[in-house]
Amino acid sequence: MKGVVLAGGLGSRLRPLTRVTNKHLLPVYDKPMVFYPIQTLVDAGVTEIMLVTGGNNAGEFLRLLGNGEDFGLNMMHYTYQKTEGGIAHALALTRQFVGSDKVVVILGDNFIQGSIKKAVDDFDKQPSGAKIFLKEVDNPVEFGVAELDGDRVVRIIEKPKDPPSRNAVIGIYLYDNDVFNICQTLKPSDRGELEITDVNNEYIRRGTMTYEVLDGWWADCGSFEALLRSNLLVARENGVKI
Ligand code: DAU
Repeated sequence: MKGVVLAGGLGSRLRPLTRVTNKHLLPVYDKPMVFYPIQTLVDAGVTEIMLVTGGNNAGEFLRLLGNGEDFGLNMMHYTYQKTEGGIAHALALTRQFVGSDKVVVILGDNFIQGSIKKAVDDFDKQPSGAKIFLKEVDNPVEFGVAELDGDRVVRIIEKPKDPPSRNAVIGIYLYDNDVFNICQTLKPSDRGELEITDVNNEYIRRGTMTYEVLDGWWADCGSFEALLRSNLLVARENGVKI
């Protein structure tokens, strides 16, 4: 199983913090943001990882991460996203790196308290399909939201005005190799991006999407409030009384 960390995009919702740097280089407690999703993959047993980034600060990732020594890796792979074409556009750039393997994708601004090792191991044994993780949130309008029918996901709606549930789809996705064929069929959304939600809806349409409810907390950094919350959660996790 290959691992992909997506750290492109403009981080426009975090300006001016992101005016002169990439969002994923901003601090979260005592480390740069991008350290956490990489660690999540390493903790899940993934050793071959590609980071996708873009913009003017792409070189900083090489200086920061090198060959992944901080994570006990021998090598880090990098690729460059020239435009902010969306999450599925960034993922499509990793096709050659992933080869004929399955892939676990994590958004570079997502943090989880627990581990996805068991889910990754189980998915590795399954012949095909995809898996997402859900977490109940108070503000579903800010995320991809799953509509459930019993224990089946029937649809995911990206940033719904009228959410069908409080189950946000978190930014960790497990895919078989067909994901790259699906990415090729996507059309840009109203916000001009190739949406990961469209990829997930295609797996749902095929009847090969499964999900797990994530244990422990989950946070992302899509807004100032979310960035502050992530800092507090990570600091408390490290024993800081705050
Ligand atoms: O955080 C979870 C949410 O992430 C999901 O619930 C949504 O379904 C999913 O669409 C995504 O929503 P956001 O609107 O928060 O995504 P955002 O544009 O902030 O991008 C998330 C990460 O993906 C970002 O930290 C870097 C990466 N990315 C994004 C874009 C648009 C890229 O690598 N390239 C890109 O072009």
